[in-house]
Formats: sequence, structure tokens, C-alpha cells
Amino acid sequence: MKGIVGTLRVCSTPTMAIEGPLVPRNVTTVLSLDDVRLAGRTVLYRVDVNSPLDPSNGAFLDDSRLRSILDTLRDLSDSKVVIMGHQSRPGKIDFTDMAGHCDRLSRLIGQQIRFVGDICGDQAMTAIEEMQPGDKVFLDNVRMHPEEYGDKKVKAEDESSSEVVTRLSSVADAYVTDAFGAAHRNSPTLTGFTEEIPCIAGRLMNKEIRSLELAVNDPPRPYVAILGGAKCDDSLRVSLNLIGRGVVDSIVMVGVVGNLMLWANGHDIGKTNKEAIKAMMGDDFEHTWMMAERLVKEHSELLFLPRDVAVEIDEKRYQLELQELPTEHPIYDIGIETLQDMRSLLNSAKCILWNGPASYFEKPEFAFGTIEILNMCAEATGVTIVGGGHTSALVNQRGMAGEFSHNSTGGGSALGMLSGDPMPVIDSLSKSNDKFRPLLEALGLDEEE
Ligand code: 3PG
Repeated sequence: MKGIVGTLRVCSTPTMAIEGPLVPRNVTTVLSLDDVRLAGRTVLYRVDVNSPLDPSNGAFLDDSRLRSILDTLRDLSDSKVVIMGHQSRPGKIDFTDMAGHCDRLSRLIGQQIRFVGDICGDQAMTAIEEMQPGDKVFLDNVRMHPEEYGDKKVKAEDESSSEVVTRLSSVADAYVTDAFGAAHRNSPTLTGFTEEIPCIAGRLMNKEIRSLELAVNDPPRPYVAILGGAKCDDSLRVSLNLIGRGVVDSIVMVGVVGNLMLWANGHDIGKTNKEAIKAMMGDDFEHTWMMAERLVKEHSELLFLPRDVAVEIDEKRYQLELQELPTEHPIYDIGIETLQDMRSLLNSAKCILWNGPASYFEKPEFAFGTIEILNMCAEATGVTIVGGGHTSALVNQRGMAGEFSHNSTGGGSALGMLSGDPMPVIDSLSKSNDKFRPLLEALGLDEEE
């Protein structure tokens, strides 16, 4: 047993932008803000600014999703912009109206945005009709409308005739979406406008699509995926998708995922750790275990598993070699040898995808592995993509988003895309492109003056 103390550092290396030759070859074709001229037009703008709020007072704990839409809002500065978004789900404690989001966004953009406590009723329609170019209104939480969420939600095939879509498309020239965080969902405000008015990817949506399609279709090689955290099921589905597409050179498994894979690879991680994994996964355990065994049996040459781990004993960190397993203590981090081996792997990578922490980083003694990976990715010279969720939040908290080529705003949507799941919002954009691109000139929305 060895005790270790980690050093935390922040570095600054130029990141590789996802543009020019790094645009993936198989990217979905969607309309972008470069294809249309929206000055003076009424634009419905669907965003995903669903944010963590302090339950005691509703204050924002993280406003990065609001910050992520500022580029698009600036590009739409001469349009009449009708902002639509959701916060949480009906019945949850953080299900609120959008007044607080409107207020926060007004401060971020430096312009008063009018909050309208309605979605598509007379109050909303009047407010939209009164708008002048440059004005912005923020409609209420769209999940307050029964068509949008819950038992009365309309079926996908009926979305275009829903009240929300019928009324709002009657006063709008175009629909722009940056709701990548909800791109794996169907609902009238997400996918109902496809055939009604041109649906256009905002700046954020465009970057999300290009970056995550690069990660699954056409990454520069060698390509290393680092998968961690506690969502073992999702991480293994991402692994199998990347392997099935033949695009990945190494998959680093850390965090709870790493512990599970060590176990599947024949290492006895101890009763405490096995039970913890089973309890965390519940009914998903058996299916996930089968995926883990398959990865070990059929693709072991692509797997990079921890060489050493760190456990907690009496609230202190101790490092263990794999030969010292099993342990009765919880494994909360990877060890220093693992990190050293990872360094050379990441140094030679031309593309790195990182999703999921390597450790129980909320405990300072165990932040080491995760922070070292954060620094190694930030130092890497190739394309670096953070796959959303907790990892993205950590990158933002540390003020290091600028060190990465892309830091996804998605949670479930990013994982869905990396796993190869259907993405209704992106499909909707693609279909709308097919229908409206040839009609842009007739609609007066073409780029040429
Ligand atoms: C998210 O934060 O993941 C999105 O806003 C989607 O939210 P949902 O899981 O409630 O649909």
C-alpha cells in the first residue's frame, strides 16, 4: 500500500478547432445561420437552458447553457426572436416558469428581454405581433403546455397539427434550434415545425452536430475514448458503437466503469465494490455485465484498463496494485501508474473523446485522477471533445472549456449520439433542410441581397 498526494495544475495549450479539414465527411446536412438571412424576420428560437437551480431560492447553480446560446442570439440581433425553452419536468421541485432564465439571459446579453408568461395563447400571440426588429421575448416553460410533456403529450405524427406548432408557425418566418441537450427527445416545440417553416441549426447546434459526428464517424486517428463515471450501461454502449464503426484505437475505462471492467476481466475487486456496482445499476446490471464480458472477450486489444487503483481507508487515500486486490475498501480513483501510461497514449492521440470522471472527485483526496485527465486532455494537441454531463460541468467549473475543441452541452443527448441512438431533433433539421433549402429564394430567406 502506498499513499500519494496529487498535484493539481492548470495549463494552456492551443486547442484544435473543429473546422476546415476536420469537419467530418459524413456530417448531417442541415440549414445553418450562414444559409439564411433573418434580419427583420420573426424567428422561433428553441433552446435547452434546463439548468441546475438551488432548491431553496431558485438561484442558478450553473448558467453555462444560457451562455452557450449567446453566439446565436448575437447573430439574430436584427430579428424578432421568440425564445422557447423548458426547465425540468412537471412535478419536480425545480420545475419553474422561465422568468428567472429570462432575467439571467437579459443580463448576459446586455439587453432587456421581455418575459411572457404564456406559450401560444392570446398573450403570447399579441406579444409576438407587437415585436420590432431587435426585440426578444422569452415565452414560458413549454412543458407547462399539455401537448409538450406528460400524459397528454401529442404523438410524434400529430406534432405538426398541435396547437403550439399551428399557432406559433402562423406568425413566424423560421425556426432556429440550439436545443441540443434535448436532441434525443420528440415534442411539438422540438420536432413539430419540420415541415411548417424552415428549421435551422443555431451556432451551438451546428457545433454539437459537427463535433459529435466527428467523434462517431470520422475522427482523426489515432483516436482515444476515455469513458468513466458511474453510467456503466451508457459507457459500454458508446464503446460498442465506436468499435462497431471501426473508428476507435483505444478505449480507456476509468471510474466505476473501470472497476466493472476490471471485474469482468477477472480481477476480484472485492465484495464492497461489487455490491456497490450492482446497487448502482439495479435492473441494468445483467445486460451491462453481458456487454462488459463481450468487450473483454472480443475487443480486449482496444481496452486500456486501470493498472492500479486508490481506495479509501479511514477517510484517507491509499494506492493499490492490481495484485493487491481484492480489497474490502471502496475503490474511488485510478492510481498514478495508470495515469503515467495514459499520458503517452493521450500524447500520441490526434482525437480524444472524454466522458465521465475517473474518480469520486467531490472528495478532495480522490480528485487526483480526474483532474490529471482534465489536464492531460487540455495539454493534448489534437481534437479534444468532452461528451457532456458531469464532465462538461467540471470543465466549466474549472474555467477550462476554452482548452477543449468542444465541450458538449448535452447529457443524455450526447451519450445517445455517441451510442448511435436515433436523434429526432437532428433528423427534423435534416428533413427540413431537404424541404426548404430549394425554397429559400422563394421565401426571401436566401443569403444573397
Ligand atoms: C437535459 O437537461 O438533459 C435536457 O434538458 C433534457 O431533459 P429531460 O431529460 O427532462 O427531457
